[in-house]
Amino acid sequence: TRVAVMISGRGSNMSALIEAAKDNDFPAEIVLVVSNKPAAAGLDIARSHGIEAVAVDQKLFSSREAHEEKVAEAIEASGARIVCLAGYMRLLTPRFVARFAGRMINIHPSLLPLFPGLDTHRRALEAGMRLHGCTVHFVTEEMDGGPIIAQAAIPVRPGDTIANLENRLLAAEHRLYPHALRLVASGRARMEGARAIVDMEEA
Ligand code: GRF
Repeated sequence: TRVAVMISGRGSNMSALIEAAKDNDFPAEIVLVVSNKPAAAGLDIARSHGIEAVAVDQKLFSSREAHEEKVAEAIEASGARIVCLAGYMRLLTPRFVARFAGRMINIHPSLLPLFPGLDTHRRALEAGMRLHGCTVHFVTEEMDGGPIIAQAAIPVRPGDTIANLENRLLAAEHRLYPHALRLVASGRARMEGARAIVDMEEA
């Protein structure tokens, strides 16, 4: 299955997906990386792996819809059937979400439905959480609100700071996202209405 990855920045989750997809047994190949920011470091990383990487600079478009149309065209031209959001920091319109319904997934750095949105590590610490985590979910119109495919949890340790919690969680994200993409690409996770059906054999 051909996969496009959408990024806005450093692209460490994108890199984890690229590395995982190098395995011959992996049921997906990364064929395109798209960034809404031309300066995203992940673009050059993708190119260094021989993957087509394009910036569709949101500043060059008069509307969100026009920008998304260009992004969608690039994805469709690549033949990608699955879209992975990996640190893509721009909200998507319902129209774009509908175009890739059941085929677009996102990784979020919290145990959803706790802490949708930004600043998740600070908010988890402030809430006194003893566990923090990350979630891969199907993308729906509701930001960070779609059906959950897979999650991983890490302990919050005494003395944890935002920075070291973020770093430890990132390592968990890099394991979780390839696992979740494998489930979706192989048909073992799919969206049915408002729910995700996940075959747990491999979970
Ligand atoms: C990650 O924490 C991801 O969960 C969130 O944005 C961050 C992106 O980091 N959605 P990277 O660009 O993958 O390194």
